[in-house]
Amino acid sequence: MSGQKISAPKGVSEYVPNRSRAFEFIRENLIAPTKLAGYQLIELPVFEDTDLFTRGVGESTDVVSKEMYTFEDRGGRSITLRPEGTAGVMRAVIEHGLDRGQLPVKVWYSGQFFRAERPQAGRYRQFYQVGIESIGLDDPAIDAEVIAIADAGFKAIGLSKYRLEITSLGDAQSRAAHRVDLIKFISTLSLDEATAIRAAINPLRLFDDKREEMKSAMSKAPLLIDYLNEHSKAHFEQVKKYLEAMGIDYVVNPKMVRGLDYYTGTTFEFVHEMLGAQSGIGGGGRYDGLMEQLGGQSLSGIGFGLGVDRALLAAEAEGVIGSNDFVSDLFIIPLGDSAKVKALTIATSLRNSGKTVEISFGDRALKGAMKGADKSGATYVIVLGDSEISSGTVELKHMKTGVTSSVKIDSLLEAL
Ligand code: HAM
Repeated sequence: MSGQKISAPKGVSEYVPNRSRAFEFIRENLIAPTKLAGYQLIELPVFEDTDLFTRGVGESTDVVSKEMYTFEDRGGRSITLRPEGTAGVMRAVIEHGLDRGQLPVKVWYSGQFFRAERPQAGRYRQFYQVGIESIGLDDPAIDAEVIAIADAGFKAIGLSKYRLEITSLGDAQSRAAHRVDLIKFISTLSLDEATAIRAAINPLRLFDDKREEMKSAMSKAPLLIDYLNEHSKAHFEQVKKYLEAMGIDYVVNPKMVRGLDYYTGTTFEFVHEMLGAQSGIGGGGRYDGLMEQLGGQSLSGIGFGLGVDRALLAAEAEGVIGSNDFVSDLFIIPLGDSAKVKALTIATSLRNSGKTVEISFGDRALKGAMKGADKSGATYVIVLGDSEISSGTVELKHMKTGVTSSVKIDSLLEAL
């Protein structure tokens, strides 16, 4: 029916002014440390062959079994909106042969991801991540550097009320030894059919079961961290040593289960204290078998995904985003048509020097235009009328203090 309002689809996050500025600030600050560490942009499609995620992310996961936006395209192919970034990066690395060059391959990405979850505060069906992947070397110093890059992003935003949890899921041999005992333990539990199916695909998933009875049953289950062989143990010890050397605090959480099946070895999560149930602001880890699983060579990799939406909520909860962080330097109010021409030329020249300049358009009366200047939060305002243009001098008013000074139009740049 025409005329009816249309709302955004349920559960999507979207950012409109002024909050979009805060969102941009968060995203850019999460990205900056990845570039400083030599990671390069990889820009990938938001939809991929469904097979990429069923094979890459794992069928026992909620993400694949319940949360994918999957549809048939016009050519009858099964397509899925990306629920996460790592599988797509791996696909692209293999497809473009990036792993045939210098290793590790180091890439960063940022964009929308899609999971058909039950929406709630901090949990959306479309959300934003900044991520990196370092592919090709199994050096524990890379694990520590990757974690440090994520940590630097959160610190750059000003966050402090979060903790870093780490654990190791060990190598294939360690996991196999643990799996035998875990399956033995699980066989003593009485499970409903769906849980039994999940356990059969990946018994570790049961550690992630939020039901009280399952939590208490699993409290006695054997922990993978006690089954690490010498190699896995040594790798994990090194990671911890490097983190300590960088002054990055962590707690070991041996019950951590990440929501994706590809993890091996070091895994980690950043947990914020003020976000309630959806407290994970970022997470990641190593994935030894993923590349091979997707038809590539057998190379190890590690990376993270940081939740931009949740980092913004965390920054707001901590009160570290100042409302005056994002303002124009100058607001110009032109009175009359020739003043408009002058305003446009002044604005262009100041903008060329990196100043943020807004103009009051629409021939508003001075009072209304001043209100607009006030609302914009601009630092300074000038009114341009015929007398200002003929004298080449304006009254530059500092909006907060109300102090004015006479400034030559040609010297505005220095005065701002
Ligand atoms: P993930 O833990 O599933 O990991 O997601 C990373 C972050 O994205 C989470 O910590 C959270 O902040 C945010 N996030 C996830 N789901 C939602 C949602 N529904 N609404 C809002 N924010 C959400 C990954 O996606 C892996 N690909 C990370 C990785 C990269 N591991 C290795 N390399």
